[in-house]
Amino acid sequence: MLKTRTERELKQYLEDRRARIDRTLEVYLPAVMTVPERLHEAMRYSLFAGGKRIRPILAIAAFEAVTASKRPPDTIDDAFPVVSAIELVHTYSLVHDDLPAMDNDDYRRGRLTSHKKFGEAAAILSGDALLTAAFTLLSDRHLNRTIPPDILLLVIRELGLAAGSLGMVGGQFVDIESEGMIGSQTVSEETLRYVHSHKTGALIRAAVRIGAILGRAGTEALSSVTVYGEKVGLAFQVADDLLDLEGTEKETGKRVGKDGAHQKLTYPMVVGLEKSKRFADRLIREAQEALTSFGPEADPLRAIARFIVERKY
Ligand code: IPE
Ligand code: IPE
Ligand code: MG
Ligand code: MG
Ligand code: MG
Repeated sequence: MLKTRTERELKQYLEDRRARIDRTLEVYLPAVMTVPERLHEAMRYSLFAGGKRIRPILAIAAFEAVTASKRPPDTIDDAFPVVSAIELVHTYSLVHDDLPAMDNDDYRRGRLTSHKKFGEAAAILSGDALLTAAFTLLSDRHLNRTIPPDILLLVIRELGLAAGSLGMVGGQFVDIESEGMIGSQTVSEETLRYVHSHKTGALIRAAVRIGAILGRAGTEALSSVTVYGEKVGLAFQVADDLLDLEGTEKETGKRVGKDGAHQKLTYPMVVGLEKSKRFADRLIREAQEALTSFGPEADPLRAIARFIVERKY
């Protein structure tokens, strides 16, 4: 299929930023030879398995959008360690999400899940270590030497809040607690929205806010980017629910049809397939509307929003 110019530009943008994030992580994470070798092997196994890196890419895109008019040419390089930390948190969340006590999945990013390959204890511990590594990376004064400490502190708090019980972990908790409760009186659309905007939305919202904070965004720009992040974050999980129903194992790199088997609380399950698609589309339109005060410097953010609901993986 021939791609339009914008599609080609987006592909190139995603590919370029992804490669730079991968290089940053590659250098930062302890080598496989580092003791304990098997732990570092497990961490690297999950991290370098071909994830989209969409959260750090969103953070960079937000950084670029808010700094376009005032950025000296190469300061964007300096933002990569900070945004890459978000991917460490995300990858840890996937390793734990797949555990037998959680979603009990065998495949992730096109390969066996961490606990299938290394055993459950190693998977739990490698998740713990990935999460912790995010914060040692953020607080590394040498790697982040051009970023003022007060900005780093804001970023650390943003990521900590989004990852914890008030964010991602909170959403994951209610996701597990709600299994098998579809159709019951106690499961409402409000619970569904809570689960999705926390288990997935919180980290995506934090990603774009972190980019904007790094770029010293003013109050108005930060709040526009926050609305964008909330809409796109929720849409991301609606799209993930749809992929579980309509996607393929080959493209997504994970088993499909698992949400139904686990009686998970998902948008298609609660409101139906067509309504879920319309809802995701609406969220993307609203996310793009939140960026009306930006010019072409926010085009990558606009294009990524569309990609998030149209992706096949
Ligand atoms: C999958 O996230 C888990 C969700 C939060 C929906 P991604 O779809 O971003 O997975 P990777 O990182 O590309 O593997
Ligand atoms: C995962 O949601 C959200 C996380 C915080 C990891 P899912 O459980 O739907 O993600 P997949 O489908 O396993 O990637
Ligand atoms: Mg899950
Ligand atoms: Mg899962
Ligand atoms: Mg899913």
